This record gives sequence, C-alpha cells and structure tokens, in this order.
Amino acid sequence: MASAEPIYRVQDLVRVFSHGPQPVIAVDHVSFEIPAGQRLGIVGESGSGKSTLIRMMAGLRRPSSGDIVFAGQSIVGRRESELSWLRRGVQLVFQDPRSSLDPRMKVADIIAEPLRSRIWQGTKRPDPFSRVNELMAQVGLDPGDRNRYPHQFSGGQRQRIAIARALAPNPRVLIADEAVSALDVSVRAQVLNLFADLVADHGLTLVFVSHDLSVVRHVCDAVLVMQAGHIVEAGPVDQVYSDPREPYTRQLLASVPRLRRD
Ligand SMILES: Nc1ncnc2c1ncn2[C@@H]1O[C@H](COP(=O)(O)OP(=O)(O)OP(=O)(O)O)[C@@H](O)[C@H]1O
Ligand SMILES: [Mg+2]
Repeated sequence: MASAEPIYRVQDLVRVFSHGPQPVIAVDHVSFEIPAGQRLGIVGESGSGKSTLIRMMAGLRRPSSGDIVFAGQSIVGRRESELSWLRRGVQLVFQDPRSSLDPRMKVADIIAEPLRSRIWQGTKRPDPFSRVNELMAQVGLDPGDRNRYPHQFSGGQRQRIAIARALAPNPRVLIADEAVSALDVSVRAQVLNLFADLVADHGLTLVFVSHDLSVVRHVCDAVLVMQAGHIVEAGPVDQVYSDPREPYTRQLLASVPRLRRD
C-alpha cells in the first residue's frame, strides 16, 4: 500500500546566522516528515533552534540550505508572489498576543486580515463579515465584540483572537510557537483545550513548539526533541515520554516537576 504524501517534508535543512561575532548554526541538517493530521510537538531548551525551524517552514525565513516541501511543492527559493498556497495553507500563532495584534485595529479587522491579502487572487475568498462572526464564535468570543480593540480583552481572549485570525483562511496547518506560555495557568488549560478541539474539529495538522513538555503531552501525538540545532530524538509522544532513548530527553523530562512521578 502506498503511503499518503506527507503534508511537510523537511530535508537536510540548515540555517546559519552569520552576522554576529561568531556564525551560529541555528538549525543543523534537520530532516523529518509530518503526515497530514499529525499533532507534532517540538521541544528543546532555549536556543535549540525551534523557532528558526518553524519560521523556515512557514516561509518567514530563508534556509541556508536544504529543502522544505509543503503539500507536494518546495517552498524554498520562491518569491512571495509564488507562495500563495503556503500563505493560505499554513498559519501561525505566537507567544505574545500583545505584540502580534495591532492595537489600533478592531478585532474584526485583525481576524479578517488573512482574507484581505493578495493570496486570494484567482481563488474563492470567504466573505470577511460572516467569517469573522463564525470564527469568533468558534474560539469562544462574542461576535458582538467585533468592533472592540485588543486592549479591551484579557490575555486569554487576545490569544483566542490570534487563533481566530489563524483559522480565517481555512489553513491545513497551524503552527503554534509557545502559544500558551505567556498565559496564566488556569487560562492556559482553557486555551490548550481550545487548540485541541479546533485541531480535531477541522482535521488540522498541528506543529506545537513549547519548552513545556507537559503541555506537548496534552495536545500532541508525536514529538521532536531538539538540541543545538539537531533533532536528537523523535517518535510517538507515549514512547518518547515513557521510554526516552537520549540522556538529553531524560534530562528535559526530569526538569518537568509534574512528570517526575510518572
Ligand atoms: N535573527 C537572528 N540572528 C542571529 N542569531 C539568531 C537569530 N535568531 C535566532 N538566532 C540564534 O539561533 C539559535 C536558535 O534560536 P531559536 O530562536 O531558533 O531557538 P529556540 O529553540 O526557539 O529558543 P527559545 O526556546 O528561547 O524560543 C540561537 O543561538 C539564537 O541566538
Ligand atoms: Mg523560540
């Protein structure tokens, strides 16, 4: 039986930052595949290359070498005007909604932003007004608040706005970079459950970057462990968490207090 084409294929990917005193190899010959519908966690200590990796996957940073294939086509070396299928298909949610939401824009305009851009040329674009109402309801916000501004919402609500914006173009992949790390513990659980529900309801592929291993265990079914730009361990969450092969993974797991008694 032929296996389905993975939604992402990352091959021998390298990113070097060479403008500092010493070149930094942020991502160092990384290869992996993501089957469509997988919920993949990426963990590793600060500076291990997680954000650099996912920014390249989202077409926000150019690789130094290697290839990234999204939905069957390479994204590397293309002009912005040639990336519409990536821009519609992959959306990001970042850590701090305060800096990722423009304070001067109404929530309805923020959420509809991905629907207004040029990526819709030649394709059917959802109607922004009704789509915003639908999205606000989906993420647990009151569509009646669509004309308010970000500062009129709580931290958890602001992250819900960012999630609604990410869902607006009906993406196939949601990439979250420490998306719940800045939230209070109680709110964190709610937003995490929202992620899990939305991913299941829409059949999304999820790439979930976090230094919090307990959070990854909660929402992911597979995990990549990064150290100094390398993937040092990869596998199903259950296996990696219960029987880690690498000392580095064991060390990461040991530093999560809630997992110590497992
Ligand atoms: N724009 C940049 N210019 C120079 N060096 C960079 C840049 N972005 C990242 N780096 C370096 O690349 C390495 C990987 O950084 P990256 O932000 O990808 O790590 P991370 O795993 O996301 O860390 P964190 O958990 O702190 O978010 C680090 O050494 C970092 O200093
Ligand atoms: Mg990061």
